[in-house]
Amino acid sequence: MDVKALLQRGVEVTDTALETLLPPAQTAPVSIHSAMRHSVFAGGKRLRPILAMQAAAAVVGEVPPGVERLGAAIEMLHTYSLIHDDLPALDNDDLRRGKPTCHVVYGEAIAILAGDALQTQAWEVLAGLSCPAAATVRIVGLVAQAVGTMDGMIGGQVLDIEGEQQKPTAELVEAIHRAKTGALIRVSVVSGGVFAGGDEQQIAALDTFGRKAGLAFQIVDDILDVTQDSAQLGKTAGKDLTSEKATWPAVFGLEQSQRDADRLIAEAFDALVLFGPRAEGLKALARYLVERKK
Ligand code: IPE
Ligand code: IPE
Ligand code: MG
Ligand code: MG
Ligand code: MG
Repeated sequence: MDVKALLQRGVEVTDTALETLLPPAQTAPVSIHSAMRHSVFAGGKRLRPILAMQAAAAVVGEVPPGVERLGAAIEMLHTYSLIHDDLPALDNDDLRRGKPTCHVVYGEAIAILAGDALQTQAWEVLAGLSCPAAATVRIVGLVAQAVGTMDGMIGGQVLDIEGEQQKPTAELVEAIHRAKTGALIRVSVVSGGVFAGGDEQQIAALDTFGRKAGLAFQIVDDILDVTQDSAQLGKTAGKDLTSEKATWPAVFGLEQSQRDADRLIAEAFDALVLFGPRAEGLKALARYLVERKK
């Protein structure tokens, strides 16, 4: 499986969907539509949409038409989380995806509203998915949970912020990572499977895969914050140490962190056995998650 080609194709398909689904920059109010587009099109890896597409492909053997809209909606939610994560009240970052952050360019008020607007737009897109209505309703519920306060992204961000300047425990950092990042990755995979009409056994397998890969993803994000520079990452490197964040390396050290990420990916692979060769795309992505350098 050529992961480079898979990633490149996934970015193209996702960006085309985002282009049609987001309001044009010239539409009034121009400031917020420009701000939304600034952050969405600053150059993300689009890993969550690509995971959703490949999860769907694991179920039906190819990427089904319409799943790119599910991916685009999840990418809107992810980008909203990044805009708010970078705000002065949260991580206070001025660099994101290699560009100045939303609030640096458009001011805090518009950045907050741009995050809100991306979230709202995402629900509209999800409501109009082309899968059967029952699958759409299930996806909306699952995604809402993954973004929410109970083991979801927002809950994880709360733990992350409140965990600053405390000595982190293994339990705390695992809870933070599963919620703030793992939940959205996990639901990307699961909702791709639901979109494609997967049976309950397949959905459970995708859930296990997504849970392991999601935790591994944030462990690697923490490792890269220590080992790479800002130019490489397109965001401020070394930030977790200065903010005294509860990270995996802070608790376990760098070497153990890499070993944990590798182990989680091996376990994630095991969950995919029932898909046979149809899961090659997901496997290639999982490998990329732990080998990536940005
Ligand atoms: C960064 O996510 C934020 C985290 C949840 C760790 P990504 O590494 O997927 O960022 P982009 O989308 O490629 O910019
Ligand atoms: C962010 O975690 C998770 C989100 C919900 C956005 P980080 O704060 O570690 O993400 P980066 O490193 O700024 O991308
Ligand atoms: Mg953060
Ligand atoms: Mg941050
Ligand atoms: Mg980080």
